[in-house]
Parts: sequence; structure tokens; C-alpha cells
Amino acid sequence: MNILLSFCDKITFLNERYNYSLSFFNTNNKMEKLFISNELLIGSGCNRDCYKHPTENKCIKILKSGAKPNILKRELKYMNSVRKRLKSKRNYYSDFIEKVPTNKGIGYVFDLVTDINNEISKTLADVYLDALLNNKIDLIAILDLELIKLKNNIINDRILTHDLHAGNVLVRMNKGNVGNLVIVDGIGRTNSIYLFDRFGFIGKRKPRKKFECNLMPIISGYKEAFAYLKNH
Ligand SMILES: Nc1ncnc2c1ncn2[C@@H]1O[C@H](COP(=O)(O)OP(=O)(O)OP(=O)(O)O)[C@@H](O)[C@H]1O
Ligand SMILES: [Mg+2]
Repeated sequence: MNILLSFCDKITFLNERYNYSLSFFNTNNKMEKLFISNELLIGSGCNRDCYKHPTENKCIKILKSGAKPNILKRELKYMNSVRKRLKSKRNYYSDFIEKVPTNKGIGYVFDLVTDINNEISKTLADVYLDALLNNKIDLIAILDLELIKLKNNIINDRILTHDLHAGNVLVRMNKGNVGNLVIVDGIGRTNSIYLFDRFGFIGKRKPRKKFECNLMPIISGYKEAFAYLKNH
């Protein structure tokens, strides 16, 4: 009996330690492939296709052919460590859940970002450009405010980003109003130095810099381009 218990402990430990390698067995201890049809496609980036989960309120990301898995693996490792450190779930980024086998290859399951009416949220790029195009001044002001909130959140929680652009942030809407911004991609580190990242002032410096140098120039660029077009 004791031997059996210690074996179970070991499996639990391994499952926690190597979360994604054993999670194929998480559901019903089977290795059934999940069938994902093309109609479930939500969006496509440079490296991954993102599909709606066929049965659950989640999304599944599949690496495109030729895309290297290294960045994704680093991202998942970082997200797992952040989850352990923060101890509670944050609503401003879509978290990694598990790995599942699918008919399209290995699927990486994440929280699905939806509006209050369950529609899949639009990207910040789409919403911001639409607001500029249609001169929705109030909406632009709200989005700018939400950007500041997002920035403060990732700085306070010391979350590193490496690829934050307006297509990697979704705008969750709540009955016609902006709810909050959610990062769906680009969380993680670009190198493997862990020293000081989680602590004090130094731990806040990098998240601030990444946000200000990656995402904000894109938003300013949108505004400048529209101002230019208006005057010419
Ligand atoms: N959690 C999510 N909920 C809803 N839609 C999502 C989610 N994650 C991604 N998407 C949609 O799928 C698109 C592509 O996903 P993702 O950004 O993860 O791919 P990528 O190839 O890593 O992107 P990039 O080109 O930025 O490297 C996003 O732009 C977004 O429209
Ligand atoms: Mg992306």
C-alpha cells in the first residue's frame, strides 16, 4: 500500500513539475485526439493558428508548419512559474491550461477571451483602428486608460513580455463598453537570466520598458498616421 501511495505521489510530483509533458493523460487517462475543424479557426498569427475548443470555452493554439516550438515552450514555462508565484489568476492575460493531442498536431489550450455576450473579443489593433477611423473620441480615451491599467498591472506583478503588439492584446467588451484588455500572446522572457526578475524595483523595470518600447509606439503610430491622413 505504502509503495502504491509513494508511486502516486511521484506521479503527482512529476505531473506538476513537467506539467505539459504529462498533461496528455490528464483527461480520462486517454490519449484521444481532439478533432478540430477548420471552421473553428479564430485567428492566425506568424507562428500559430488559434482555434475555438470544439466543446469547451477555451482556445487551442497549434504551431504552424515550420514554426519553431522553442519560443512557445519558453512562454509556457514562464507562465507556469508566474502562476505559481502570483498564486491567484489574473484577468489581464490568457493563461496556459494544458497540452492536448489533436488531428492538427499538438494543441496548446489557453483561456478563451470573450466579450460578456460570449463573442470572441477583437484585437486592440482592430478596435483602436476602427475607433480612429470613425472618430470615436470617447472610445479612444477609454482604450488609452485601459492601456495604462494594463501597464500598471504587468509592472506591479512583474510580468515580462517579449512580443507585445496590438494584435496580441484583445479588448474584452462588456455590454458595449470596454471591460478590460487581455494579453493573449507574447508573455515570457527572451533570455534565461532569472536573477532579480521577481523582486523590487529592478523586477519592475523590464516590464515597464518592454511595454513602453513595444506596444506604446504602435499605438502612437496609429494616432500619428491618422492625424497625418486627416491633414493631407
Ligand atoms: N486566448 C485567445 N482568445 C481569443 N482569441 C485569441 C486568443 N489567443 C489568440 N487569439 C486570436 O488568434 C490570433 C493569433 O494568435 P497568437 O497571437 O497566439 O498567434 P501568434 O502566431 O503567436 O502571433 P504572432 O504573429 O503575434 O507571433 C490573435 O491575434 C487573436 O486574434
Ligand atoms: Mg500573436
